[in-house]
Amino acid sequence: MKPEAEKPAHIAFIMDGNGRWASQRGLPRVMGHRQGLKAIRAVVEAAREYEIPFITLYSFSSENWKRPRSEVQFLFSLMRERLKREAAELHRHQVRVKFIGFRPALPDSLQRIMKEVETLTEKNTGLTLTFAINYGGRQEILEAVQKILKEGRPAGGLTEATFRCYLQSSFLPDPDIIVRTAGEQRLSNFLIWQASYAEFYFTEKLWPDFDQKDFLAVLKEYRRRRRKFGGL
Ligand code: FPP
Repeated sequence: MKPEAEKPAHIAFIMDGNGRWASQRGLPRVMGHRQGLKAIRAVVEAAREYEIPFITLYSFSSENWKRPRSEVQFLFSLMRERLKREAAELHRHQVRVKFIGFRPALPDSLQRIMKEVETLTEKNTGLTLTFAINYGGRQEILEAVQKILKEGRPAGGLTEATFRCYLQSSFLPDPDIIVRTAGEQRLSNFLIWQASYAEFYFTEKLWPDFDQKDFLAVLKEYRRRRRKFGGL
């Protein structure tokens, strides 16, 4: 079944449970991250199949620096290697890859490949796949306020529509639905401005186990929701 009606335009994922997935198997946590890449692939393929135009993945939060240095370094090198490896295929499939988050704190080699993939795919017209790396919603809002103050904009003229232009994620429509895996039910500083009217979908599934069937379950659940945006 291909859900045609009431499809979400933007699905955002909080990928959680990689560490637990690995621990349950007596494996080091990092193996969970490696396995998590398979779930990313499944989501990208499903998004292309069901023609969902925007997917955003919370890949590293500005709070994830609190993790052991070795895990943080592993994650960055996994991202770098994978982006390098997948760039050509993503491009071939017309995927436009974007990144949000504070880049200067990331390793130079990762920043370089991020820029390269973004430039390579910038004119693509298929799925927009956004990775939030070293991202925090409060920081994104704060950065927008700083830009506005620097420009000396008169306070009176500032509307929600103009404010969102200053957000790093201004190229994204608000997420229609935010999916979080591994049973946790919180936003963890993800897209907090943009989530005002988002639907939420929580699943016990650990991120590395999330597959195309789970993606379809999200689409089905979304169709059941009645979105009122404050109206009746
Ligand atoms: C959450 O599980 C997962 C992460 C913090 C990292 C997710 C990142 C990737 C899978 C790599 C992304 C790849 C690219 C190309 C950008 P957790 O470690 O919090 O799990 P736990 O709660 O069970 O410990």
